[in-house]
Order: sequence, then C-alpha cells, then structure tokens
Amino acid sequence: MKASELAPNLRVPVITKYVPEVLDRIGNTPLLKMRNITKGLAKKVEVYAKAEWVNPGGSVKARPALRMVRDGMKAGKLGRGKELIDSTSGNTGIAYALIGKILGFKVNLVLPANVCKLRKGMMASQYSANLILSDPIESSDGAIRLCRKIYSENPDKYFLPDQYNNPSNWAAHKETTAREIWEQTNGTVTHFLAGIGTSGTLMGTTRGLKAMNRNILSYAVEPAEPLHGIEGLKHMETSIIPGIYEPSVFDEKLSVKTDEAYKMVSRLEEEEGLLVGTSSGAAMVGAMRVAERLDEGVVVTIFPDSCEECIVAHGEF
Ligand SMILES: Cc1ncc(COP(=O)(O)O)c(C=O)c1O
Repeated sequence: MKASELAPNLRVPVITKYVPEVLDRIGNTPLLKMRNITKGLAKKVEVYAKAEWVNPGGSVKARPALRMVRDGMKAGKLGRGKELIDSTSGNTGIAYALIGKILGFKVNLVLPANVCKLRKGMMASQYSANLILSDPIESSDGAIRLCRKIYSENPDKYFLPDQYNNPSNWAAHKETTAREIWEQTNGTVTHFLAGIGTSGTLMGTTRGLKAMNRNILSYAVEPAEPLHGIEGLKHMETSIIPGIYEPSVFDEKLSVKTDEAYKMVSRLEEEEGLLVGTSSGAAMVGAMRVAERLDEGVVVTIFPDSCEECIVAHGEF
C-alpha cells in the first residue's frame, strides 16, 4: 500500500518561522483512500479524498491565495507599500495573512463576525492581519459588499484580489490540484466532486482533469438550503454568484443538507479516523452518492480543511 493511502496523523501546526520555503510546501497534498465508509460499494469502485488541511495555513485555499498574490505582484498591483484587502469566510484569509507575513505586505480581511474565534486569532494575532467584521446575518455576501465599499473608497491604497472573480483562483487548481489527482491516480480517475464556495476548486480542477480525459465526470456539491451550516460553501441561487462560476464546466449539481454533512463528519472520524470540516463531510456525502451508482470507477473529492482548531477550542464548526 502506498504511504498516501494510509490515514497519517496530519495535524496542522501553526507556522512561526516566516521563511519563503513555507510557500514551497503549498500543494502536493496526500490522496487518502476511504477504506471503511466504502464497504457497501461495488468491488471495483474506489473513493479518494485530497487532504488539503496539510497545506500551510491549513486549507485548500493556500493554493489560490498564493497564485492570486503572485499574479498580482507580476502585474504590479501589489508591492510598493500597497495593502491587500479581500473578503473571506476564513480559510482564504488565513492563507493571505500567512503569505503576507512571509512576503512582507499588510493584509486586511473582511469576514462575517461569526467566523470562529480561533480562526480570527490565527489571522490577527498569529499572522498580524487587520480584521474588519461584517454582519453575520448577511454571511459571506455581507463581507463581499463591505469589502467592495472599503476598496472603492480608497482604491489606490489596496490590491483587491477578489477571489470570487479572479481567474487566477481557478487557474491555481487547474495547474496543481488537477495534475496531482491525475498523477496520484495514475490517470484512472473517472469522477470528480468539489463543494462550491468561490467555485475555484471545482472550476479549475474540472478544467484540468477534462483536458487530460474528457470523459471524466464532474459534480458540484452545494448546500441544499440557503441558510446552512456548511462552512465555506454557497447556495448559489440565493447568493451573489461568483464571476468565475460557470455551470457549463461541470456535469451535475448535488444538493447536500447540513445534517447529512454533519453526520458524515462523524462517520469519517469514527470509521476512517479523519477529523475534517463540514464542507469535507458534504463532499463525501456527494462522493458516496455518485459511487453508489457505479459498478466500476475511481471517485475523487476534496477535503478542504480539518477545522480541528474550531472543534477543539469551542466545540463549534
Ligand atoms: C472549508 C471550505 N470548504 C470549501 C470551500 C470552497 O472552495 P472554493 O472557494 O474553491 O469553491 C471553501 C472556500 O473558502 C472553504 O473554506
């Protein structure tokens, strides 16, 4: 068995040495094989998930954050004293703050006030970002609106990567996540799923995989309800639709209820020994729905984060 198929102890340490080498550790995450949850499936069906919490900063969002920053620098939009500002539901903020600390620019993050305390602590106390809190009732859309307002009042002061509308977001996944999945499955992947927040993970990885084999089927995993508890995901019909979201890129949308996602988080802990966040639970609900339809296939999804810090510190997701 390959080492990447085991479920290693993948706890996320907080980074305290802000050396550029940290940025080289973004990507190349393990692909974990589900061994117990999948027991009722047809023999020739395999289900895998990318352990994205291994990235510096603890989530999948390190990939697009780094790419957006680097592309912004190349285009001359960041540097010479400019500050970064963006809206985030948490993970992109942690990634920006860490990258800013390493590369030496100031980071301002607009986020809903109800993002868990430990995440806010990581962004502000650990990685020195300035936090601007938006109305929790308006969730991530409130943060988007407030961020646009602050930027428009002082556009020369800031670089606004605008993760919801920036093609560098999905390009990061096309060039890294898709290639890794292709290589880690030796080109045998048949089905891919990802939860949709900005939709960058789904758009980029799907484009990359379909470029390698156009028969690979791709699925968007979306919260079933407008008001839901699946951190990082968006109910598109009732949200500000990201500019990078193109429904024609994927093949089918799967709706997942919050309680289904929570139950799957518990099952992943009990049956696979994995401590993952709620959007990972939702992704695995979708993956199992697809896998149950198959006689044969290799189904791959993304576990965006562990949210371990929230569970440990506050008993909340
Ligand atoms: C925990 C979590 N899951 C899923 C996503 C969705 O990823 P994407 O923005 O690439 O659609 C995010 C995005 O912030 C997230 O934080």
